[in-house]
Amino acid sequence: MIELPRGEYTPGEHESEPSRMTGRLLDAMAHSAARRYGSERVSELAHALQCAELAQAAGADPELTLACLLHDVGRFAVDQSLVFDRVGGARAGARGHHEVGADFIAPFVPERVAWLVRMHADAKRYLCTTEPGYHQTLSPASQHTLTLQGGLMSPEEIARHARHPWLADALRLRRWDDLAKVVGKATQPLEAWAPLLRTYFG
Ligand SMILES: [Fe+2]
Repeated sequence: MIELPRGEYTPGEHESEPSRMTGRLLDAMAHSAARRYGSERVSELAHALQCAELAQAAGADPELTLACLLHDVGRFAVDQSLVFDRVGGARAGARGHHEVGADFIAPFVPERVAWLVRMHADAKRYLCTTEPGYHQTLSPASQHTLTLQGGLMSPEEIARHARHPWLADALRLRRWDDLAKVVGKATQPLEAWAPLLRTYFG
């Protein structure tokens, strides 16, 4: 049995008690206030709140806003030994936090929300490949994880992603993700997002 930090759950276990999911997510997010967002200077909670608020301010629909709030759920609500693209100690078979996080919420949310969470690492790869100068705008930590997440895309990958109907949403999320690292920025409290979480997680 793996010892989990408070607020983290093993995939699958949470599906047996779907009625508790909103509370569990709020609990995991509250605990993420004490965890640094990778090598950035903000906490995981501050990053999630800033990202969701940027989406809301830009008029994003509820699904896209939810995806922004939870895009890093694989970092703060899942057993981190299942995740390879952050701190060390990952198990064999560990996957990227975007994949683990998307699978974690997929039973509860529309396909588009889970897809956007899964896509947020590939959206960075897409922008680094197609947009001159984008790579230079990334933080050193984000440039480092780009390599772990597969590096630049091939022409075939670019063509395939460019045809996807939700690509534009994924790129919007990615840009808010990049901006949501402002130290000391005031945001709404976590509780302000409870109604949105309840809409999807019960
Ligand atoms: Fe993020």
